[in-house]
Amino acid sequence: MRVERGSPLDARDIAKLYSVAFPESVELFFGKRTPEKLLDLLELTFSLVLQWGTESLLVKDDAGSIRGYCLYSTKEEPSAKRSYRKALAILGKMALQISLGELTRLFHNQVLMTTSVRYTRASAAKKVTARIVSIAIDPDFQGQGLGTLLFSSVLRDLQDQSIGLNVRANNAAALRLYQSAGFQPLGTTKDLLGEWLVLERPPRDAAVL
Ligand SMILES: CC(C)(COP(=O)(O)OP(=O)(O)OC[C@H]1O[C@@H](n2cnc3c(N)ncnc32)[C@H](O)[C@@H]1OP(=O)(O)O)[C@@H](O)C(=O)NCCC(=O)NCCS
Repeated sequence: MRVERGSPLDARDIAKLYSVAFPESVELFFGKRTPEKLLDLLELTFSLVLQWGTESLLVKDDAGSIRGYCLYSTKEEPSAKRSYRKALAILGKMALQISLGELTRLFHNQVLMTTSVRYTRASAAKKVTARIVSIAIDPDFQGQGLGTLLFSSVLRDLQDQSIGLNVRANNAAALRLYQSAGFQPLGTTKDLLGEWLVLERPPRDAAVL
């Protein structure tokens, strides 16, 4: 297994992994879709996210198949990387595919999540400069250290940044991964599927001090 940087060309493989790694979210937001239509929409979503400058690292097996991904963003994303024309084209395709019901539920979820944030350390929350957007390992390969391998590469990339992320309160494997990496609670929030913990890790130098 090796860790490599991804690109917008990996959007479909990332979509496939997302669809099997997050079955509850897929069921809630896109339960009425056929698998192929689900992948089409997720692929567009990840293309957009990657086109917009979100970074990606991938775990690949010896045959080159993607077994895990992590997407993360920083406030220092170079705007030169962004293609407004491509992003608009993708948004146009998404608008043709997504139903009003799906859009309403996604919007409702996002509003709930934003308005439900309760910080216990608001001053630390303001210092967050990078975010883990999504991380997943192929379910057939979970629990074998790949998440740790991938996440350590991401943390090396972001070692001088204050990193924020959200994790479901009942996600034991992810919580273990983040706690081992030195993430600390910042607060909580919730969405249509339940409670999230908001975590943060200070820049490496500050963490050592
Ligand atoms: C969370 C996830 C990325 C972790 O990757 P992974 O390859 O399975 O994790 P690892 O094998 O590297 O193990 C990481 C730690 O979690 C522990 N762990 C693994 N599976 C676990 C489980 N089911 N329950 C409790 N702890 C678990 C490991 O023991 C390890 O801790 P240690 O370093 O103290 O031994 C992966 O399980 C996953 O993709 N889950 C579904 C998607 C998801 O929940 N993403 C995170 C969203 S915030």
